[in-house]
Amino acid sequence: MSFADVILEQGGEISAKLDMLRIEKFPPNAQKTLRQFSLAEVADFVGVSQSYLKKLHLSGKGVEPAVTSTGRRYYTAPQMDELRTLLDRVPHRRGDEKLQVIAVVNFKGGSGKTTTSAHLAQYLALKGYRVLAIDLDPQASLTALYGIQPELDEKPSLYETLRYDDQRKPISAVIQPTNFPNLDVVPANLELQEYEYETPLAMQRKDSSEGKLFYTRIGSALAEVDDQYDVVVVDCPPQLGYLTLTALTAATSVLITVHPQMLDIMSMSQFLLMLGDILKSVEGAGIAVSLDWFRYLITRYEPMDIPQQQMVGFMQSMFAQQMMKNHMVKSTAVSDAGLTKQTLYEVERSQFTAATYDRAREAVDAVNAEVAELLQMAWGRRNG
Ligand SMILES: Nc1ncnc2c1ncn2[C@@H]1O[C@H](COP(=O)(O)OP(=O)(O)O)[C@@H](O)[C@H]1O
Ligand SMILES: [Mg+2]
Repeated sequence: MSFADVILEQGGEISAKLDMLRIEKFPPNAQKTLRQFSLAEVADFVGVSQSYLKKLHLSGKGVEPAVTSTGRRYYTAPQMDELRTLLDRVPHRRGDEKLQVIAVVNFKGGSGKTTTSAHLAQYLALKGYRVLAIDLDPQASLTALYGIQPELDEKPSLYETLRYDDQRKPISAVIQPTNFPNLDVVPANLELQEYEYETPLAMQRKDSSEGKLFYTRIGSALAEVDDQYDVVVVDCPPQLGYLTLTALTAATSVLITVHPQMLDIMSMSQFLLMLGDILKSVEGAGIAVSLDWFRYLITRYEPMDIPQQQMVGFMQSMFAQQMMKNHMVKSTAVSDAGLTKQTLYEVERSQFTAATYDRAREAVDAVNAEVAELLQMAWGRRNG
């Protein structure tokens, strides 16, 4: 048997077995629901004290939380939104505050792009922002994490919005709701890969100028839904192709995820050099990418690991200005939650050793709160 025959057979076998596993674990008609949130979480997400919330409840105002037999209060995510409305703390953008588009990039797979994007988009939604998450990776990991099964559900991807022929659809036709209020998603699928082949062809076609305009395609697509969202989070594929470039030219800010190990940092430096070169040539075509902010985010950090500490120190000494102050720690809570297609905001704390869950939640909340601050600065709501 030739190599091609063997891999075709084995690829088919793996995919059939995986489909069976997936159907077993996540039946096609399974609906993701969302857990309730504790008083402490609600106080944090709404931005008031716990005692204030209790008082509000006692005085008959506010919403009616579920109370357990031990007296603990739990609120649903829609109830958090009701509270924000009641307390006049809805953080939607207003006036000339422009839509924020955060591209999460790095061409290294496994640097934590999808994990970062998934948690960031959900956090911002729980904070009351209207969020659109775009999965631009044909491998569709974010899509799967958000409960859509690319092979079974067959949802259209952003490719339908980006394509160069007359089948192109508006972005509103590819947006799907998620189990989080305030959070929608544009799913990914393998078809997105077509964009990588079609863009250079479109650029070569002499009779049309639209191919040359690949860098404006996401920006133009978003214009249609500009008034429906505050923040767009784009999970980019692990390569520096046209999908990533198109996201970067639509971005108002960039998060570069980096695992603090020598090889990862070497690969990231190549990424920066290549990206810089490409952006220079894009600038030559009259498209300047100017960002409100960009930051390096340390991911899967093990603070007790000396070489990792050194790598973080190394980056900090060079890019103090652009380093996120908070790092995302490595945690089994993140990887275990991922096994059941969940995030730290979805799993129940009781499923974990409390200290393990709390440590991971603290880290992810701190990272996300830092990003929320950067958004507020970009909107001019606070100073740096
Ligand atoms: N903070 C973390 N702690 C533990 N595991 C993590 C963490 N962040 C990511 N992972 C795991 O590492 C793998 C790669 O992460 P992912 O976010 O998919 O990276 P990328 O999108 O850059 O390829 C996933 O299996 C994910 O569950
Ligand atoms: Mg990914």
